[in-house]
Amino acid sequence: MKTESFLLKGDLCYSKDSTHLETVANGVLVCLEGRCAGVFPRVPEQYQGLPRYDFSGRLVVPGLVDLHVHAPQYAYRGLGMDMELLDWLNTNAFPEEAKFADLDYAQRAYSLFVEDLRRGATTRAAVFATLHGPATRVLMELLEASGLCAFVGKVNMDRNSPDILREKSAEASARATVEWLEQTAGKYRRVKPILTPRFIPSCSDELMERLAGIQRTFGLPVQSHLSENQGEVEWVRELCPSASCYGDAYASFGLFGGGVPTIMAHCVLSGEEEIAMLRERGVWVAHCPASNTNIASGIAPVRRFLDEGLRVGLGSDVAGGHSTSLFRAMADAIQVSKLRWRLQDQSLKPLTVEEAFWLGTAGGGAFFGPVGSFLPGCELDAVVVDDRRLATTRALTVRERLERVVYLSEDRDVAAKFVQGRQVLPDEKQVYISSQM
Ligand code: GUN
Ligand code: FE
Repeated sequence: MKTESFLLKGDLCYSKDSTHLETVANGVLVCLEGRCAGVFPRVPEQYQGLPRYDFSGRLVVPGLVDLHVHAPQYAYRGLGMDMELLDWLNTNAFPEEAKFADLDYAQRAYSLFVEDLRRGATTRAAVFATLHGPATRVLMELLEASGLCAFVGKVNMDRNSPDILREKSAEASARATVEWLEQTAGKYRRVKPILTPRFIPSCSDELMERLAGIQRTFGLPVQSHLSENQGEVEWVRELCPSASCYGDAYASFGLFGGGVPTIMAHCVLSGEEEIAMLRERGVWVAHCPASNTNIASGIAPVRRFLDEGLRVGLGSDVAGGHSTSLFRAMADAIQVSKLRWRLQDQSLKPLTVEEAFWLGTAGGGAFFGPVGSFLPGCELDAVVVDDRRLATTRALTVRERLERVVYLSEDRDVAAKFVQGRQVLPDEKQVYISSQM
Protein backbone atom coordinates (compact mmCIF):
# COMPACT_ATOMS: atom_id res chain seq x y z
CA MET A 1 0.00 0.00 0.00
CA LYS A 2 1.40 3.40 -0.87
CA THR A 3 2.39 5.88 1.79
CA GLU A 4 0.46 9.07 2.11
CA SER A 5 0.95 12.82 1.91
CA PHE A 6 -1.54 14.93 3.85
CA LEU A 7 -2.11 17.65 6.41
CA LEU A 8 -3.29 16.86 9.90
CA LYS A 9 -4.81 19.58 12.05
CA GLY A 10 -5.14 19.36 15.84
CA ASP A 11 -3.54 20.23 19.17
CA LEU A 12 -0.05 18.85 18.54
CA CYS A 13 2.25 17.61 21.25
CA TYR A 14 5.67 15.95 20.81
CA SER A 15 9.14 15.72 22.34
CA LYS A 16 12.04 17.81 21.07
CA ASP A 17 14.32 15.89 23.41
CA SER A 18 13.99 13.95 26.66
CA THR A 19 13.14 17.01 28.75
CA HIS A 20 11.44 19.37 26.30
CA LEU A 21 7.90 19.06 25.05
CA GLU A 22 6.70 21.09 22.09
CA THR A 23 3.01 21.96 22.02
CA VAL A 24 1.15 23.73 19.20
CA ALA A 25 -2.53 24.41 19.81
CA ASN A 26 -4.55 24.29 16.60
CA GLY A 27 -1.44 23.42 14.61
CA VAL A 28 -0.84 21.71 11.27
CA LEU A 29 1.31 18.61 10.92
CA VAL A 30 2.54 18.01 7.37
CA CYS A 31 3.11 14.43 6.20
CA LEU A 32 5.00 13.91 2.94
CA GLU A 33 5.24 10.32 1.71
CA GLY A 34 4.99 8.92 5.22
CA ARG A 35 7.42 11.31 6.89
CA CYS A 36 6.96 14.46 8.96
CA ALA A 37 7.80 17.59 6.97
CA GLY A 38 7.15 19.92 9.88
CA VAL A 39 4.66 21.43 12.29
CA PHE A 40 3.18 24.84 11.47
CA PRO A 41 0.76 27.31 13.06
CA ARG A 42 -1.28 27.35 9.79
CA VAL A 43 -1.17 25.60 6.43
CA PRO A 44 1.97 26.70 4.55
CA GLU A 45 1.42 27.98 0.99
CA GLN A 46 3.29 25.13 -0.72
CA TYR A 47 1.14 22.46 0.98
CA GLN A 48 -2.25 24.03 0.27
CA GLY A 49 -3.16 21.29 -2.22
CA LEU A 50 -2.69 18.29 0.11
CA PRO A 51 -5.61 16.28 1.53
CA ARG A 52 -6.58 17.37 5.03
CA TYR A 53 -7.61 15.61 8.21
CA ASP A 54 -9.35 17.91 10.60
CA PHE A 55 -8.86 16.80 14.21
CA SER A 56 -9.50 20.23 15.70
CA GLY A 57 -9.93 20.08 19.46
CA ARG A 58 -8.25 16.66 19.68
CA LEU A 59 -4.77 15.98 21.01
CA VAL A 60 -2.32 14.62 18.41
CA VAL A 61 0.82 12.87 19.70
CA PRO A 62 3.47 10.59 18.17
CA GLY A 63 2.62 6.88 18.19
CA LEU A 64 3.57 5.02 21.35
CA VAL A 65 6.32 2.39 21.31
CA ASP A 66 6.23 -0.83 23.35
CA LEU A 67 9.85 -1.94 23.56
CA HIS A 68 9.08 -5.23 25.35
CA VAL A 69 5.95 -7.38 25.27
CA HIS A 70 5.15 -11.12 25.25
CA ALA A 71 2.29 -11.73 22.81
CA PRO A 72 1.57 -15.32 23.99
CA GLN A 73 1.14 -14.16 27.59
CA TYR A 74 -1.70 -11.79 26.69
CA ALA A 75 -4.46 -14.31 27.48
CA TYR A 76 -3.52 -14.49 31.19
CA ARG A 77 -2.78 -10.82 31.79
CA GLY A 78 -4.05 -9.71 35.17
CA LEU A 79 -3.75 -13.23 36.61
CA GLY A 80 -1.29 -15.10 38.79
CA MET A 81 1.05 -12.32 39.83
CA ASP A 82 1.45 -13.07 43.53
CA MET A 83 4.88 -14.60 43.09
CA GLU A 84 8.37 -13.74 41.89
CA LEU A 85 9.89 -14.21 38.44
CA LEU A 86 11.20 -17.79 38.46
CA ASP A 87 8.07 -19.26 40.09
CA TRP A 88 5.90 -17.01 37.90
CA LEU A 89 7.58 -18.36 34.75
CA ASN A 90 7.07 -21.99 35.79
CA THR A 91 3.51 -21.49 37.02
CA ASN A 92 2.11 -19.10 34.40
CA ALA A 93 4.30 -18.32 31.42
CA PHE A 94 5.65 -21.74 30.45
CA PRO A 95 2.34 -23.70 30.57
CA GLU A 96 0.55 -20.95 28.58
CA GLU A 97 3.32 -20.65 25.99
CA ALA A 98 3.32 -24.43 25.49
CA LYS A 99 -0.21 -24.11 24.09
CA PHE A 100 1.17 -22.35 21.01
CA ALA A 101 2.23 -25.69 19.55
CA ASP A 102 -1.45 -25.74 18.49
CA LEU A 103 -1.91 -23.37 15.53
CA ASP A 104 -5.65 -22.95 16.11
CA TYR A 105 -4.95 -21.81 19.63
CA ALA A 106 -2.20 -19.49 18.39
CA GLN A 107 -4.55 -17.93 15.85
CA ARG A 108 -7.20 -17.34 18.50
CA ALA A 109 -4.90 -15.98 21.21
CA TYR A 110 -2.70 -13.87 18.92
CA SER A 111 -5.80 -12.36 17.27
CA LEU A 112 -6.91 -11.04 20.66
CA PHE A 113 -3.47 -9.58 21.35
CA VAL A 114 -3.09 -7.90 17.96
CA GLU A 115 -6.60 -6.46 18.04
CA ASP A 116 -5.87 -4.94 21.46
CA LEU A 117 -2.68 -3.32 20.13
CA ARG A 118 -4.41 -2.13 16.97
CA ARG A 119 -7.20 -0.38 18.90
CA GLY A 120 -4.89 1.34 21.37
CA ALA A 121 -2.23 4.04 21.05
CA THR A 122 0.69 1.71 20.27
CA THR A 123 2.14 2.05 16.77
CA ARG A 124 5.32 -0.04 17.19
CA ALA A 125 6.36 -2.96 19.34
CA ALA A 126 9.24 -5.35 19.96
CA VAL A 127 7.47 -8.63 20.58
CA PHE A 128 8.41 -12.03 22.02
CA ALA A 129 6.48 -14.94 20.52
CA THR A 130 7.15 -18.52 21.70
CA LEU A 131 9.67 -21.15 20.59
CA HIS A 132 7.21 -22.38 17.94
CA GLY A 133 8.12 -21.24 14.40
CA PRO A 134 4.67 -21.84 12.79
CA ALA A 135 2.80 -19.96 15.56
CA THR A 136 5.33 -17.13 15.34
CA ARG A 137 4.50 -16.83 11.63
CA VAL A 138 0.80 -16.55 12.53
CA LEU A 139 1.66 -13.65 14.86
CA MET A 140 3.71 -11.95 12.15
CA GLU A 141 0.85 -12.27 9.63
CA LEU A 142 -1.63 -10.76 12.07
CA LEU A 143 0.67 -7.87 13.01
CA GLU A 144 1.42 -7.12 9.35
CA ALA A 145 -2.31 -7.05 8.59
CA SER A 146 -2.93 -4.70 11.54
CA GLY A 147 -0.81 -1.96 9.94
CA LEU A 148 1.48 -1.66 12.99
CA CYS A 149 5.27 -1.92 12.77
CA ALA A 150 6.86 -4.66 14.83
CA PHE A 151 9.95 -6.70 15.50
CA VAL A 152 8.88 -10.26 16.30
CA GLY A 153 11.07 -12.96 17.78
CA LYS A 154 10.71 -16.71 17.76
CA VAL A 155 11.99 -17.50 21.25
CA ASN A 156 15.02 -19.76 21.78
CA MET A 157 15.15 -21.95 24.89
CA ASP A 158 16.93 -25.31 25.23
CA ARG A 159 17.40 -25.71 29.00
CA ASN A 160 15.77 -25.21 32.42
CA SER A 161 12.14 -25.48 31.38
CA PRO A 162 9.66 -28.38 31.24
CA ASP A 163 9.63 -30.80 28.30
CA ILE A 164 6.50 -29.15 26.91
CA LEU A 165 8.38 -25.88 26.38
CA ARG A 166 11.99 -26.74 25.65
CA GLU A 167 13.77 -27.26 22.35
CA LYS A 168 15.39 -30.67 22.25
CA SER A 169 18.95 -29.44 21.65
CA ALA A 170 20.94 -26.35 20.74
CA GLU A 171 21.17 -27.68 17.23
CA ALA A 172 17.38 -28.19 16.97
CA SER A 173 16.73 -24.68 18.29
CA ALA A 174 19.17 -23.10 15.83
CA ARG A 175 17.74 -25.14 12.94
CA ALA A 176 14.17 -24.09 13.78
CA THR A 177 15.32 -20.47 13.93
CA VAL A 178 16.94 -20.56 10.48
CA GLU A 179 13.85 -22.30 9.09
CA TRP A 180 11.60 -19.57 10.56
CA LEU A 181 13.86 -16.85 9.12
CA GLU A 182 13.91 -18.42 5.67
CA GLN A 183 10.15 -18.97 5.63
CA THR A 184 9.41 -15.36 6.59
CA ALA A 185 12.17 -13.63 4.57
CA GLY A 186 10.82 -10.79 2.43
CA LYS A 187 7.19 -11.57 3.31
CA TYR A 188 6.31 -8.51 5.33
CA ARG A 189 6.75 -4.77 4.95
CA ARG A 190 6.23 -3.65 8.51
CA VAL A 191 7.11 -6.75 10.52
CA LYS A 192 10.72 -7.82 10.93
CA PRO A 193 12.43 -10.69 12.72
CA ILE A 194 14.51 -10.19 15.87
CA LEU A 195 16.75 -12.83 17.47
CA THR A 196 15.24 -13.75 20.86
CA PRO A 197 17.21 -15.91 23.29
CA ARG A 198 14.72 -15.94 26.18
CA PHE A 199 17.35 -15.24 28.85
CA ILE A 200 20.63 -16.81 29.92
CA PRO A 201 19.04 -19.49 32.18
CA SER A 202 17.02 -20.75 29.16
CA CYS A 203 19.92 -20.94 26.69
CA SER A 204 22.91 -23.26 26.77
CA ASP A 205 26.36 -21.96 25.80
CA GLU A 206 26.17 -24.02 22.64
CA LEU A 207 22.85 -22.45 21.70
CA MET A 208 24.18 -18.93 22.34
CA GLU A 209 27.17 -19.68 20.08
CA ARG A 210 24.88 -20.91 17.34
CA LEU A 211 22.61 -17.87 17.71
CA ALA A 212 25.60 -15.56 17.40
CA GLY A 213 26.39 -17.25 14.09
CA ILE A 214 22.77 -16.76 12.94
CA GLN A 215 22.91 -13.12 14.05
CA ARG A 216 25.98 -12.52 11.87
CA THR A 217 24.60 -14.39 8.87
CA PHE A 218 21.22 -12.64 8.88
CA GLY A 219 22.29 -9.30 10.42
CA LEU A 220 19.53 -9.50 13.01
CA PRO A 221 18.83 -7.29 16.01
CA VAL A 222 18.56 -9.00 19.41
CA GLN A 223 16.15 -8.84 22.37
CA SER A 224 16.33 -10.54 25.74
CA HIS A 225 16.04 -10.04 29.52
CA LEU A 226 18.70 -8.69 31.88
CA SER A 227 19.09 -8.38 35.66
CA GLU A 228 15.38 -8.43 36.44
CA ASN A 229 15.20 -10.39 39.69
CA GLN A 230 17.59 -11.33 42.54
CA GLY A 231 17.13 -15.10 42.20
CA GLU A 232 17.63 -14.87 38.44
CA VAL A 233 20.86 -12.82 38.77
CA GLU A 234 22.29 -15.31 41.30
CA TRP A 235 21.38 -18.22 39.03
CA VAL A 236 23.18 -16.59 36.09
CA ARG A 237 26.27 -16.13 38.28
CA GLU A 238 26.27 -19.91 38.89
CA LEU A 239 25.54 -20.77 35.25
CA CYS A 240 28.23 -18.42 33.86
CA PRO A 241 31.06 -18.34 36.44
CA SER A 242 33.51 -16.77 34.01
CA ALA A 243 31.25 -13.82 33.10
CA SER A 244 32.01 -10.66 35.09
CA CYS A 245 28.31 -9.74 35.18
CA TYR A 246 25.01 -10.90 33.64
CA GLY A 247 25.45 -8.53 30.68
CA ASP A 248 28.94 -9.91 30.09
CA ALA A 249 27.39 -13.37 29.62
CA TYR A 250 25.51 -12.03 26.56
CA ALA A 251 28.50 -9.94 25.46
CA SER A 252 30.83 -12.97 25.54
CA PHE A 253 28.73 -14.44 22.73
CA GLY A 254 28.56 -11.16 20.76
CA LEU A 255 24.88 -10.65 21.56
CA PHE A 256 24.97 -7.40 23.52
CA GLY A 257 24.93 -4.23 21.41
CA GLY A 258 28.14 -2.77 19.98
CA GLY A 259 26.98 -2.91 16.36
CA VAL A 260 24.21 -5.41 17.09
CA PRO A 261 21.02 -3.41 17.82
CA THR A 262 19.92 -4.89 21.15
CA ILE A 263 17.05 -4.46 23.61
CA MET A 264 17.49 -5.71 27.16
CA ALA A 265 14.35 -5.68 29.29
CA HIS A 266 14.38 -4.60 32.95
CA CYS A 267 17.97 -3.87 34.18
CA VAL A 268 16.54 -3.44 37.69
CA LEU A 269 19.63 -4.88 39.37
CA SER A 270 22.38 -3.87 36.96
CA GLY A 271 25.60 -2.91 38.77
CA GLU A 272 28.30 -0.37 37.87
CA GLU A 273 30.05 -2.55 35.31
CA GLU A 274 26.83 -3.63 33.61
CA ILE A 275 25.52 -0.07 33.37
CA ALA A 276 28.83 1.00 31.81
CA MET A 277 28.54 -1.86 29.29
CA LEU A 278 24.96 -0.92 28.42
CA ARG A 279 26.10 2.65 27.75
CA GLU A 280 29.27 1.85 25.84
CA ARG A 281 27.56 -0.74 23.65
CA GLY A 282 24.46 1.39 22.99
CA VAL A 283 22.05 -1.25 24.26
CA TRP A 284 18.42 -0.13 24.65
CA VAL A 285 17.01 -0.69 28.13
CA ALA A 286 13.29 -1.54 28.07
CA HIS A 287 12.01 -0.21 31.38
CA CYS A 288 8.91 -2.19 32.44
CA PRO A 289 7.56 -0.57 35.61
CA ALA A 290 4.26 -2.48 35.88
CA SER A 291 5.95 -5.86 35.51
CA ASN A 292 8.70 -4.93 37.97
CA THR A 293 5.97 -4.01 40.47
CA ASN A 294 3.62 -6.96 39.85
CA ILE A 295 6.23 -9.68 40.24
CA ALA A 296 8.09 -7.66 42.88
CA SER A 297 11.36 -7.39 40.99
CA GLY A 298 12.23 -3.86 42.16
CA ILE A 299 12.62 -0.44 40.54
CA ALA A 300 15.18 0.24 37.80
CA PRO A 301 17.26 3.41 38.25
CA VAL A 302 15.93 5.07 35.10
CA ARG A 303 16.96 8.58 36.20
CA ARG A 304 20.54 7.33 36.34
CA PHE A 305 20.22 5.66 32.93
CA LEU A 306 19.03 8.95 31.44
CA ASP A 307 21.68 11.06 33.20
CA GLU A 308 24.41 8.71 31.97
CA GLY A 309 23.21 8.74 28.38
CA LEU A 310 21.90 5.17 28.08
CA ARG A 311 19.27 4.42 25.47
CA VAL A 312 15.97 3.78 27.25
CA GLY A 313 12.36 3.10 26.27
CA LEU A 314 9.27 1.65 27.95
CA GLY A 315 7.85 -1.86 27.82
CA SER A 316 4.47 -3.19 28.88
CA ASP A 317 6.02 -6.65 29.45
CA VAL A 318 2.57 -8.20 29.30
CA ALA A 319 1.82 -10.46 31.15
CA GLY A 320 4.30 -9.56 33.90
CA GLY A 321 2.74 -6.18 33.17
CA HIS A 322 -1.05 -6.33 33.15
CA SER A 323 -1.85 -3.62 30.58
CA THR A 324 -0.79 -3.12 26.97
CA SER A 325 -1.21 0.67 27.37
CA LEU A 326 1.97 2.70 27.02
CA PHE A 327 0.20 5.72 28.55
CA ARG A 328 -0.21 3.49 31.63
CA ALA A 329 3.47 2.57 31.44
CA MET A 330 4.39 6.27 31.40
CA ALA A 331 2.34 6.95 34.54
CA ASP A 332 3.74 3.81 36.18
CA ALA A 333 7.31 4.88 35.34
CA ILE A 334 6.74 8.23 37.05
CA GLN A 335 5.11 6.66 40.08
CA VAL A 336 7.74 3.99 40.70
CA SER A 337 10.50 6.57 40.22
CA LYS A 338 8.91 8.58 43.03
CA LEU A 339 8.83 5.54 45.32
CA ARG A 340 12.45 4.77 44.47
CA TRP A 341 13.42 8.35 45.27
CA ARG A 342 11.44 8.39 48.52
CA LEU A 343 12.37 4.94 49.79
CA GLN A 344 15.62 3.89 48.17
CA ASP A 345 17.88 6.63 46.80
CA GLN A 346 17.28 10.36 47.15
CA SER A 347 20.12 11.18 44.76
CA LEU A 348 17.93 10.07 41.83
CA LYS A 349 15.09 12.53 41.23
CA PRO A 350 11.70 11.20 40.06
CA LEU A 351 10.88 11.25 36.34
CA THR A 352 8.81 14.12 34.99
CA VAL A 353 5.81 13.78 32.66
CA GLU A 354 7.99 15.16 29.85
CA GLU A 355 10.58 12.44 30.43
CA ALA A 356 8.06 9.61 30.71
CA PHE A 357 6.33 10.77 27.51
CA TRP A 358 9.69 10.91 25.72
CA LEU A 359 10.54 7.38 26.94
CA GLY A 360 7.28 5.98 25.54
CA THR A 361 7.63 7.75 22.18
CA ALA A 362 11.05 8.90 20.97
CA GLY A 363 13.15 6.98 23.53
CA GLY A 364 11.91 3.56 22.44
CA GLY A 365 11.12 4.78 18.92
CA ALA A 366 14.81 5.26 18.17
CA PHE A 367 15.20 1.48 18.04
CA PHE A 368 13.03 1.59 14.90
CA GLY A 369 14.90 4.50 13.23
CA PRO A 370 13.81 8.16 13.12
CA VAL A 371 10.58 7.43 15.00
CA GLY A 372 8.65 8.85 17.95
CA SER A 373 8.52 12.61 17.33
CA PHE A 374 7.10 15.13 14.84
CA LEU A 375 10.49 16.67 14.11
CA PRO A 376 11.13 16.93 10.34
CA GLY A 377 12.33 13.63 8.85
CA CYS A 378 10.64 11.38 11.42
CA GLU A 379 8.46 8.58 10.10
CA LEU A 380 4.91 9.78 10.68
CA ASP A 381 3.34 7.71 13.44
CA ALA A 382 0.56 9.72 15.06
CA VAL A 383 -2.20 9.06 17.59
CA VAL A 384 -5.26 11.28 17.84
CA VAL A 385 -6.65 11.29 21.38
CA ASP A 386 -10.15 12.59 21.98
CA ASP A 387 -9.80 13.77 25.58
CA ARG A 388 -13.26 15.34 25.88
CA ARG A 389 -14.37 12.39 28.03
CA LEU A 390 -11.95 13.58 30.73
CA ALA A 391 -14.34 16.23 31.99
CA THR A 392 -13.11 19.20 33.99
CA THR A 393 -14.19 22.67 35.06
CA ARG A 394 -10.78 24.02 34.06
CA ALA A 395 -9.43 25.57 30.89
CA LEU A 396 -6.34 23.43 30.29
CA THR A 397 -3.21 24.02 28.24
CA VAL A 398 -2.18 21.40 25.69
CA ARG A 399 0.60 20.35 28.07
CA GLU A 400 -1.90 19.85 30.90
CA ARG A 401 -4.20 17.87 28.64
CA LEU A 402 -1.31 15.59 27.73
CA GLU A 403 -0.54 15.06 31.41
CA ARG A 404 -4.14 13.99 32.04
CA VAL A 405 -4.11 11.71 29.01
CA VAL A 406 -1.00 9.98 30.42
CA TYR A 407 -2.80 9.31 33.70
CA LEU A 408 -6.45 9.00 32.69
CA SER A 409 -6.95 8.04 29.05
CA GLU A 410 -8.14 4.65 27.89
CA ASP A 411 -7.90 2.91 24.52
CA ARG A 412 -11.45 4.01 23.72
CA ASP A 413 -10.20 7.63 23.65
CA VAL A 414 -7.98 6.88 20.63
CA ALA A 415 -9.91 8.48 17.78
CA ALA A 416 -7.43 7.85 14.97
CA LYS A 417 -3.99 6.38 14.40
CA PHE A 418 -1.39 6.65 11.64
CA VAL A 419 1.68 4.46 11.12
CA GLN A 420 4.34 5.55 8.62
CA GLY A 421 1.73 7.95 7.22
CA ARG A 422 -0.90 5.22 6.71
CA GLN A 423 -4.15 5.51 8.60
CA VAL A 424 -4.90 2.36 10.59
CA LEU A 425 -7.74 3.76 12.76
CA PRO A 426 -10.62 4.39 12.68
CA ASP A 427 -11.91 1.73 10.32
CA GLU A 428 -14.17 4.35 8.67
CA LYS A 429 -11.35 6.56 7.43
CA GLN A 430 -13.09 9.19 5.33
CA VAL A 431 -15.06 10.47 8.35
CA TYR A 432 -12.33 12.90 9.33
CA ILE A 433 -11.27 14.24 5.96
CA SER A 434 -12.30 17.86 5.53
CA SER A 435 -11.86 20.13 2.55
CA GLN A 436 -11.12 23.26 4.49
CA MET A 437 -9.45 24.31 7.70
N1 GUN B 1 12.61 -13.65 31.89
C1 GUN B 1 12.60 -14.72 31.08
N2 GUN B 1 11.38 -14.90 30.53
C2 GUN B 1 10.62 -13.92 30.99
C3 GUN B 1 9.25 -13.55 30.76
O1 GUN B 1 8.50 -14.20 30.03
N3 GUN B 1 8.81 -12.46 31.42
C4 GUN B 1 9.60 -11.72 32.25
N4 GUN B 1 9.11 -10.65 32.86
N5 GUN B 1 10.88 -12.04 32.49
C5 GUN B 1 11.37 -13.11 31.85
FE1 FE C 1 9.66 -10.00 29.52
